[in-house]
Amino acid sequence: MKTTKIKLALLGLVFASGTLMAADGATIFKKCIACHGANADKVAPGSKGGVTINGADKNLLIENLKGYAAGTADNGGAKQIMYNNMKIWKLTDEDIEAVADYISKLPATSTTVKGK
Ligand code: HEC
Repeated sequence: MKTTKIKLALLGLVFASGTLMAADGATIFKKCIACHGANADKVAPGSKGGVTINGADKNLLIENLKGYAAGTADNGGAKQIMYNNMKIWKLTDEDIEAVADYISKLPATSTTVKGK
């Protein structure tokens, strides 16, 4: 009986660390590089306004990503691309928070998108 409990506790730990690993911002960001660039400093093809997301405000990034997942965010360009991305990737709130945190810490440039 006792060993079963210990085994279950260990199993719980394995699952907990698995979740932590899944929400690794740098790893998730690899999905974004093709369009936003390795340092997020490229203007995504199909976007409008010539802005980039490197070093942008974390809350602004989260708001946009959740908005694209919900099919409501609109920055004037090919938003359907981001809607489709979010549908395919099924990022959790933790994933979104982790990737937004990672992007917000990349060096900003003159093209970095500003808050509203
Ligand atoms: C296939 C190309 C493509 C990929 C891959 C991609 N994006 Fe985008 N992204 C776009 C386009 C196009 C827009 C502009 C959409 C619009 O105008 O609303 C955009 C817009 C955004 C915006 C809003 C920028 C603003 O103007 O405020 C954020 C934030 C963003 N993407 C984050 C990400 C993240 C994070 C990933 C990876 C998890 C990612 N994108 C992957 C093409 C892409």
